[in-house]
Parts: sequence; C-alpha cells; structure tokens
Amino acid sequence: MKKQILGIVGSLRKNSYNKSIMKFMEALTHEKLEVTPYSIKDIPLFNADEEDGGDPSTVAQFKRAIKNADGLLIVSPEYSHGTPGVLKNALDWAGSMTNENVLSEKPVLLMSASPSGMGGGFSQSQLRQTLAACNAYVPPQPQIFISQVHKKLDENGKLIDQTTVSFLTKSFDDFSKLLESENKKA
Ligand SMILES: Cc1cc2nc3c(=O)[nH]c(=O)nc-3n(C[C@H](O)[C@H](O)[C@H](O)COP(=O)(O)O)c2cc1C
Repeated sequence: MKKQILGIVGSLRKNSYNKSIMKFMEALTHEKLEVTPYSIKDIPLFNADEEDGGDPSTVAQFKRAIKNADGLLIVSPEYSHGTPGVLKNALDWAGSMTNENVLSEKPVLLMSASPSGMGGGFSQSQLRQTLAACNAYVPPQPQIFISQVHKKLDENGKLIDQTTVSFLTKSFDDFSKLLESENKKA
C-alpha cells in the first residue's frame, strides 16, 4: 500500500500557482506515495478557549487527517516575507500546545512558489521554525523554492518547466526514502 501524504496549500485563491504545484504533485503517479490535498479554507481563527471540551469539528477533522497521514506536503506562497496567515493559523491548531499536537514527529516536505525571483524563501524559513517548534520533522534538504512560477505553468496551470518537473519528482523520491527509513527505525 502506498504511503499517504496529506497536501496542504497556503493559498485559498482559486487560480493559485501553489495549488497548481500541488495538483502536479497529486498527479505524479509515484510508486510508493499518494498525495491527497486537504483544504484549510474552513478552519476558524485559532482560539485556545475553543479547544476546551474538544476542537471545533472542522479542526478535529483536519487534525484527524494529519494524524492518519504518513507525511505532509506543504506548498505555500509568501506574504510580506512571511508565512500566509491562513496556513500559520491552521498549523497553530494542528500543533497546539494546549491540546493535542498532531504535528509531532510528522515528516513534512516543504515547497514554496512565487512569481518573484526568490520563490518564497522567507516564508519557508518561518515555516521551518514553526514546524520545528511543533516537533515536526522537516528534512534540511531539499529546499524547494519555485521562483518565477507564472513562467513555468501553462495557461491551464500545468507545470511545463522540465527542470522543475525533474526536481520535484526527485525530491518526492527522496521524501519516499526518508519515510521508509523512518519506518525501519520505528
Ligand atoms: C498580501 C501579499 C503579500 C505578498 N508578499 C509577497 C512576498 O513577500 N514575497 C513574494 O515572493 N510574493 C509576495 N506576494 C505575491 C505572491 O507571491 C503572489 O500573489 C502569488 O501568486 C500568491 O500565491 P498563489 O498564486 O498561490 O495564490 C504577495 C502577495 C500578496 C497578496
């Protein structure tokens, strides 16, 4: 059975470039991994008071999906040199220090895409800090910054830049090996 990877995109925009990258990853028919995207659009704003007596149902569902996954794939833009608020908010629920932290020891593959030349690097540094605080496991490499993403997609949002296709495919293979080695340790 393939390992289940939960895909989280840090943009809610309909024609999001980052959603296009997630779609590419979902469509990769990888031998050992399967990506299922999960929308964070209905996650409420974090409020620790609302954890009392159980998480709100959308949050409980989100946390269950993370718990059941073998790993996470996060693909996100950068806003004002930081992590988009919607994504940070979702991670605050998931990695709660006042309730159950479902990010602990979870392997995470990170990617960011931006029309800029930097590819969302600042946002990814912040994400690494956040995920480290939650005790998630983000491998130091690869660091996947997809710069000038609008030039790498066709008019239907399909990834057509072959260098990026190869890099993402190789990175996914490496992530698969990492998951296997984690399994052996367990
Ligand atoms: C509020 C806001 C702030 C932004 N700040 C940055 C930034 O700091 N760095 C960057 O590379 N792009 C920035 N952008 C541009 C986004 O990368 C661009 O809108 C991108 O398309 C968003 O990702 P998406 O296509 O997946 O929705 C910003 C966009 C918005 C709306």
